[in-house]
Formats: sequence, C-alpha cells, structure tokens
Amino acid sequence: MHFNLNINPAKDELIFKPDSALVKFFVDTEKLERVVDEFFLSLNYPLGKIQKKNFLDKKSDEFAYYSQTDEPSVIFVKKSKLDKDFSVDFFRNYFAGLIPSLKKKNIKTVHIVVPSFGDFKNHFETESKFLQTMLEGIHLGNYTFDNYKSDKEKPEELSFLIHYTDQKVLKSTIENSNKLMSAVFFARDLVNEPAITLTPSELANRTKKELSKLGVKVTVFNKAELKKRNMNAILAVGGASNNHPCLITMHYKPTGKAKKKIALVGKGVCYDSGGLSIKPTAGMLEMKADMAGGGAVIGIMKAAAMMQLPIELIGVVPAVENMIGGSSFKPGDVVIAASGKSIEVKDTDAEGRIVLADALHYASQQKPDEIIDFATLTGAVVVALGEIAAGLFTKDDRLANDLLKSGNQSFERLWRLPFWNDYNEMIKSDIADVSNLGPRWGGAITAGKFLEHFVDEKIPWAHLDIAGPAIKHKSNNYTEKFDTGFGVRLMMDYLLSI
Ligand code: BES
Ligand code: ZN
Ligand code: ZN
Repeated sequence: MHFNLNINPAKDELIFKPDSALVKFFVDTEKLERVVDEFFLSLNYPLGKIQKKNFLDKKSDEFAYYSQTDEPSVIFVKKSKLDKDFSVDFFRNYFAGLIPSLKKKNIKTVHIVVPSFGDFKNHFETESKFLQTMLEGIHLGNYTFDNYKSDKEKPEELSFLIHYTDQKVLKSTIENSNKLMSAVFFARDLVNEPAITLTPSELANRTKKELSKLGVKVTVFNKAELKKRNMNAILAVGGASNNHPCLITMHYKPTGKAKKKIALVGKGVCYDSGGLSIKPTAGMLEMKADMAGGGAVIGIMKAAAMMQLPIELIGVVPAVENMIGGSSFKPGDVVIAASGKSIEVKDTDAEGRIVLADALHYASQQKPDEIIDFATLTGAVVVALGEIAAGLFTKDDRLANDLLKSGNQSFERLWRLPFWNDYNEMIKSDIADVSNLGPRWGGAITAGKFLEHFVDEKIPWAHLDIAGPAIKHKSNNYTEKFDTGFGVRLMMDYLLSI
C-alpha cells in the first residue's frame, strides 16, 4: 500500500488537526530533556499530557509518542548528531523509513519542523539541496511496486506540512522534487516490471507514451532498421528471442539556447539468461533488471523535460533479450559491429558490452559534447565495490570529478576505478579486433575498456557500471524492497550543475 501524497509549505504556526503527526529534530543536543520541554512549551501543548519519560530514552536517538486522546496523535523526536558520521543521506533515509511506519495508523497530516540550514551548511551545497533530501525521503519511502498484488488497498491521502523559514526556497524545492521523483518512479517501475511484460518493444512503447507528451522526440529502430544500419552487435545478442530487439533513441531539445549537448546511453537488456553461456537460476533471478541503465536514461530524459533543463540530451537505449534458441549467437562467433570493428564472442553472458558497442557508436555519431553510459555490466564491479556504489570509468578528470561530486550530493555514490590502457592487452583477440571476454581479474575494468573501442576518442566519455546499486539491496530504507532507479537523481544533480 502507498499513500497519495500531498506536500505543502505550512502556512500557520503549528496547529494540529485530529489524526496528525509531528516530526521534530533536535540537532546535536546533549540535554534533550530541556529542549523537548522548551519545544512543547512553545507549542502551547500542555506538558502534563506528555509523560516526559516517554521521550527520554538514553540509548536511542529517536522516540515516538502515541497519544490516545489528544492531538497530535503521534510525535516523533529524532536526534541528529552533526559529528563526523553525519551523512547527507540522514534525512532521506529517516523519512524513507518513517513513511511505511505510518500505514494503518490513521494519520492524515504530518507536520515536519525542519531544523535550521545553518547547522547543516557544511554538508549541503545549497539550502534547496538540504530540503530536497527530506522531500526525496518522503517520496522514496512511499514507493511500492504492487501492480501484481491482488489484495491491494485503496491508497489513503497523506498530507505533509513543512515548517520552514524560507517559503520561497521551500516552495520551489517541493515543486522540483515532485518532478524529479516522478521521473525516478517511472524509471523504477520500468526496472521492477518483470520481463514477461517488459519486452524490448514494450519498453519502447512505454517510453514513447511517457516522453512524447513531454515534447521529447522518441524514435525506435526496429529489426529491419537495425539491419539497414549494420547494428549487428544488437542483432546478434537479440537474435534468439521471439521478442525482437530494437534501439530506442530519444531527443530532448530545450526551447532556448542549449548550454551543452550530452548523449546518455543505457544498457537495455530486458532479460539476461546468459544466452548459450547460460547463468544458473540464482544468477537469473534479478536479470529482469538488466535494463536498469536504460531505465535510468529514460528516467533522466523525463526529468529533464519536466524541469525544462537548458541542455540538449540524446538518449540511446539498445533493448534486447539475451535468450537461447536456434538463432542464438554462439561462443566462437565473430560479429561486425556498426562501427566496422569486429568482436570475438567468447562468452554470450558478456552481452551488455556487445549491445552497447552499437549504441555508443551511434551516440558518438551524434557529435555530443560528452557521452555518459549507464549499465548493469558486470558482477565484478559488485565484487569490488559492494552494492552501495557504482563504478566510474573515464579518462576525463573534469568529468570524473563533477560526477563524483554529484554522486556524493545525491548519495547515488560513485567510485572511480583505474582505466589504464594496460588493460587493453587482456581483451585482445587472435581473430577479431577485440574479444568480449577478459581474464577473471579486473573484470569490470576490461568490460569498460571493451566499450572504449566504440566511443569516438575525441568526445569526453564516462562509463558507469551500476550493477550493484541499481538492484535492490539492504543498505538503506529506500533500496531494500524494489530495484532503485539508480542514476536519475545522480544525473539530474550533475545536469543541473552545468
Ligand atoms: N548482467 C550481467 C551483470 C550483472 C551481474 C548485473 C549481477 C547485475 C548483477 C552481465 O551481462 C554478465 O552476465 N556479466 C558477466 C560477465 C562475464 C561473463 C565476463 C559477469 O559479470 O559474470
Ligand atoms: Zn550477461
Ligand atoms: Zn547482462
């Protein structure tokens, strides 16, 4: 179950209606007892109705008080310590955990008293980004993918009233976060959708339907068009599926002069069985999400159009299913990609880099100022970094530093790995220009080096291997149950900083 959210600036003082909750943070305070007393006095809320001991649990930094008779019916008190362990995800993660706990409590209104920005300004670049973390947490905590649950309940209304001094900043941040989060939700819905429904053509249709109404031009190259364009890499990987491959391209052009033209490329493997180099069942379980890079790119296009970004964007998503059949591509095959370079297929499970070969070549031909790709490309990157960060591969230090910074702000974090040319030795082929398989060690890097063969070397390019953080994982409250939509918040922070 999720709520129908309504988030607004609070106009009045704190005035409670029945069935309301209050969230109040106390920052870096040792004497919680005194400040809580003061706070309730300032509220004109009779202290006699609150048993102080309920608030003061020395072991915990969080407390909830439930009242049977008086309003507000729930008060959450949260202590935030601004020490070296403070993370920019503190508020996002807190609210993401709080929202599900409000279910079935019959709460209609939640008041949030935002602490003063001054205390947090070392951690957030702007006041707006500080507020944004709370709003994102509320949205993310409310995300569900329950299309296939038959006992769904009707969503209840839940209003948030945000108490904050600067109404103007608050209002615009609420509006922007609503747009951003609707794009994140769109990406998440695509990634979470099982492959039985989300075939390559269904991905293309949903993209067209959603983005066309926002003024983004969506063009889909079908199988015949792929043949015409010699996109044999995409055709090889998609060859065994009854659900034919396609290339989804998207074009967003701002109304005024664009500050930059950026191409975004996303791996769109709607299902990765491994092909003839078949995966074991456990390895296949999450492989409906092997189009998460494509989902992120589509989500970014939506966010950019909704927020009317002054940047021209080209989105490129090769959509395929890596299946098994009489027309499977095979270990030992040589495929000539659209760029003319030949690929020796040594393992059909290293399919992402093959479809991206044609997509990156196409992106390069559009002559963008930079190219950024997103792909659930390797298990090796998850071995290296775990599930909480994506691998960043680029030779361009400016691009790397800007992306790392946006990763830290959005808490969709990146970690830069080596990208030296030495690794090219490991993907040499005796019979083709490049092999799609390197040795076991450094697997995420050799995958990136393979991609480099298909990017115009004059164009700054970054490759993001998102295999860890794009797929659901237990590291925080909003990534636990559903695939995450990783990349949309990160990239919007980056694009908005240009
Ligand atoms: N889609 C997988 C990578 C992956 C693994 C994504 C786990 C998310 C979670 C990719 O196509 C793949 O199978 N890669 C192989 C490459 C190997 C054959 C060189 C891998 O990582 O094992
Ligand atoms: Zn694979
Ligand atoms: Zn894959």
